[in-house]
Amino acid sequence: MSQIDWSHVKNLVLLSGAGISAASGIATFRGSGGLWENHRIEDVATPEAFNQDPQLVWRFYSMRRLQAGHAKPNEAHKALDAFAEKFNGEITLITQNVDGLHRRAQKKSHLDAICMHGTLEKSRCTHCHEIYLDDMAWLPSEGMPRQTGLLRTDEQANSDALSNYKIKLSDGLPLSPCCQELLRPHIVWFGEEPLFMPKIFASLERCDLFASIGTSGVVYPAAAFLEIAKSHGAETVLFNVESLPQQEHVDLYIQGPAEETVPQQFSL
Ligand code: OAD
Repeated sequence: MSQIDWSHVKNLVLLSGAGISAASGIATFRGSGGLWENHRIEDVATPEAFNQDPQLVWRFYSMRRLQAGHAKPNEAHKALDAFAEKFNGEITLITQNVDGLHRRAQKKSHLDAICMHGTLEKSRCTHCHEIYLDDMAWLPSEGMPRQTGLLRTDEQANSDALSNYKIKLSDGLPLSPCCQELLRPHIVWFGEEPLFMPKIFASLERCDLFASIGTSGVVYPAAAFLEIAKSHGAETVLFNVESLPQQEHVDLYIQGPAEETVPQQFSL
């Protein structure tokens, strides 16, 4: 297997997908056993679904909060954090994942992931869009909401944390402290615009190496990032366990589980 030559890389952009968290026990979306095999997207991951049945949508995301809260960052998340600490250039980490595992792998690196599809440990007001830190599982049929472990104790003490407010409920679901309207998960649903796109496009235009890790590359706009970076002159690297059509178009294709290949490649 070839090794990435880091000596000439000054500006690195990384895109991660569900495959990087597979070894942490978080289900990917597609393929057998994937999240979208067991749930219809239109029932749980669209604004219309939330308007129609907020209880069902909150149940789906509460279960995902509980699952992610139990998971731990794996060797791939840790290797990227350790690499960022030593790398003598600019790194932009874009993730499609909402599990917070890049954040929880952070030690000293300050490698803040750009969470383009939102993140599980935040909720926002459906009226004014104010965002709160919130890692509660909102499961009205199971009594009181409970913490899921997504946020550390010091993060819960943050003034944005929902737990610092006296929360009113409507049918067991949380109302926003700002407007007293329903809170929704801070997740980008189908039909909604991904977050931070101007910042992401600017990073793609100036990077000299673009690496995509553990994503099937079928959901746009993320699926176009590799081509955009390449069209601006970046070298491209693809990490995946399975063969993908995009592998024909990259400079380096690294096949294998990310929890093994990422620590091997991201070492200085
Ligand atoms: P997918 O489930 O579509 O793809 C996961 C990819 O990870 C597949 O290509 C797998 O082969 C690969 N994979 C699995 N295990 C791996 C491992 N251990 N190491 C490396 N690769 C591995 O997930 P995403 O591409 O992240 O969006 O999906 C993109 C978006 O579609 C998600 O962010 C989500 C979903 O619908 C929204 O919910 C908006």
